[in-house]
Amino acid sequence: MKSILELISEEVKKAFVDAGYDEKLGNVTVSNRPDLCEYQCNGAMAGAKLYHKAPIMIAGEIAERLAGSAVFEKVEAVNPGFLNINIKSQWLGEYVDEMMKDESKKFGLVVPDKKMVMVDYGGPNVAKPLHVGHLRSAVIGESIKRICRYMGHETIGDIHLGDWGLQMGLVITELKERKPELPYFDENYEGEYPAEAPFTISELEEIYPTASGKSKADEEYKAKAMDATYKLQSGVRGYRALWDHIIAVSVSDLKRNYANLNVDFDLWKGESDVHDIIPGMVQYMKDGGYAYLSDGALVVDVKEETDTKEMPPCMILKSDGASLYNTTDLATIMDRMKTYHPDKIVYLTDKRQDLYFEQVFRCAKKTKLVDETTELVHIGFGTVNGKDGKPFKTRDGGVMRLEYLISDINERMLSKITENREMDAKEAEQISKIVGLAAIKYGDLSNQAAKDYIFDVDKFTSSEGNTGPYILYTIVRIKSILNKYVEQGGELSNLAIQTPDSESGKALLRELAGFAPVIQSAFDEVAPHKICAYIYGLANAFNSFYHDTRILVEEDENKKKGYISVLVLCRDILETCIDLLGFEAPEKM
Ligand code: ARG
Repeated sequence: MKSILELISEEVKKAFVDAGYDEKLGNVTVSNRPDLCEYQCNGAMAGAKLYHKAPIMIAGEIAERLAGSAVFEKVEAVNPGFLNINIKSQWLGEYVDEMMKDESKKFGLVVPDKKMVMVDYGGPNVAKPLHVGHLRSAVIGESIKRICRYMGHETIGDIHLGDWGLQMGLVITELKERKPELPYFDENYEGEYPAEAPFTISELEEIYPTASGKSKADEEYKAKAMDATYKLQSGVRGYRALWDHIIAVSVSDLKRNYANLNVDFDLWKGESDVHDIIPGMVQYMKDGGYAYLSDGALVVDVKEETDTKEMPPCMILKSDGASLYNTTDLATIMDRMKTYHPDKIVYLTDKRQDLYFEQVFRCAKKTKLVDETTELVHIGFGTVNGKDGKPFKTRDGGVMRLEYLISDINERMLSKITENREMDAKEAEQISKIVGLAAIKYGDLSNQAAKDYIFDVDKFTSSEGNTGPYILYTIVRIKSILNKYVEQGGELSNLAIQTPDSESGKALLRELAGFAPVIQSAFDEVAPHKICAYIYGLANAFNSFYHDTRILVEEDENKKKGYISVLVLCRDILETCIDLLGFEAPEKM
């Protein structure tokens, strides 16, 4: 099914061609002056230069040719040469009806050829609690994964745990200081290691920062941690067994945390998973003449002639032969290509890793770890700030744990929901969790990823304005009208969209018709914020329609059915969109 803009543009293009002008000029966009018209075409302005004619003359000719069209109610040429366009309500009604009845159940979205996409997001480091900085990677990544899937692509989300670096050596070192008697540290121990971890998650979360603090102050301690990391990576039995415990305890806690965010991963792989393939990859890079020694380190040049900024080489091995972040990322690319053959890999991290990913991607292309056509995309996101414009902190200035951030929001929602009314405590709590999550996710996703934003609890939890709760209220309102309709004996089958009979009814249909192009561009540009902007506009359009229209008391049953059909479509589109954003609506609020 073609998008509404494509269909309208086709009509206008035909008129340009018939009048002897270039087809390109007939491109139509949504009006940026909704007070004057619904759509606009600025082709006559560009045409003026090409054909040495006054733009208003060209626009006039086109308007004349389009008079009497089945699509347009009005095409007006206005100075200095714009075409102001309104479409016929009947044509719009028929279009939206067709969209609703779209066989693929995708409301007119045309799905492209199936590709294989991997989304690398979350990226927490094992043994460290999730903090507010982990929010964006999880939330934006989850949405991107869902959008790719909705577009029909085979999509795999991988958490890519940081589970192989110095932080593991630090934890092991601190454990050894505290409990040297454990069998893991006895080199002569040959028996089976205990099945139970010698620490709990809360101990683990305390051990890591303690160890990290000590290593910063104490050179000797740091050397021990590096040695422990080395021993772990080279396979010392007791250290591996301890590492297994760290991973198990940490991962089960991570799973709980991500589940609270409605985020789930298909793969729980990590840096450690590629350890064994690193030597082969390094050899391949040397043999291919890509990697060379520079000051003892093994590097690959990734500079390009057109570079305007400094582009340092990509380091593959440190001078002591140790692998680093780059090494595991490149080996992971190699592994993914072998196992899944992705056409595209999308990475989500803080934008401070922009240069890093540029180096890694160039290195992967140059060394042919990926095909020429493999798309490697890094979405670098901005910082979550507090109202003071500085990175979001707890009230006493500490790092804000993600868990506490979520529970704070849920509590705030709970008090809002139970304000001035009686409600079953359990139900209220459930609803506040659903709405709280929407508040957080929408608050985050409605900002363009690359920008920093202010985490404003008052604003995010408000039921008015461009917020998650506002969107949910709108959905709940629609559902409640539909429920009443059914209670009154109405049926939600044989739906048909009719010709809108009011300005707000027509505006709502125009918004509904915008679904497919929005999803398409959210996918093309890897930009979930576009979906937020769309549903905010759609929710507004619905609320004005609702304000103007007496739906359930409408006496003409046929007309009423038409309204109900619009409501059903509106609910379905809103619910599809919030699902793509990674949250859901409650039945009531
Ligand atoms: N663990 C990394 C960090 O904390 C993020 C991992 C992102 N993914 C990747 N393939 N590098 O910075």
